[in-house]
Amino acid sequence: MESNGKEKFTPKIVGYLCNWCTYAAADLAGSSKLEIAPNLTVIRVMCSSRIDFNLVLTTFFNGADGILIGGCHPGDCHYDKGNYYTRRRYAMLKSVFKTLKIDPERLQLAWISASEGNRYADVVNSFTEKIKKLGPNPLNENPYY
Ligand code: FES
Repeated sequence: MESNGKEKFTPKIVGYLCNWCTYAAADLAGSSKLEIAPNLTVIRVMCSSRIDFNLVLTTFFNGADGILIGGCHPGDCHYDKGNYYTRRRYAMLKSVFKTLKIDPERLQLAWISASEGNRYADVVNSFTEKIKKLGPNPLNENPYY
């Protein structure tokens, strides 16, 4: 069987999780002992709207293979409209990724409430599988990309 070099690939994924919802869901998933891929490094933020362009691009340019942004469901943001700004920024980031010739699938936004521990586990596991299929961040192979 021919090797494509991805079998031993262990993705590095950064998860920026809103304190009020997705971070609490991660906590619930952990205390419920759900199976969650260990590839996600969690960074807690007070609202998904705190994730700006610079942060996403810097994270990616510093070697993350994938980035997950977790926020409150639309209408549930503790700061009223924060996640609406996030949704718009996410759409723009996807097009920036395309312009930079980076697969936009490496960035994912998910609305996960504090009670959705199962959904959190599903999102993390499926995103990890997706990143494994995409392979390493191309910038890691060619830093002068
Ligand atoms: S407080 Fe959770 S997305 Fe704004």
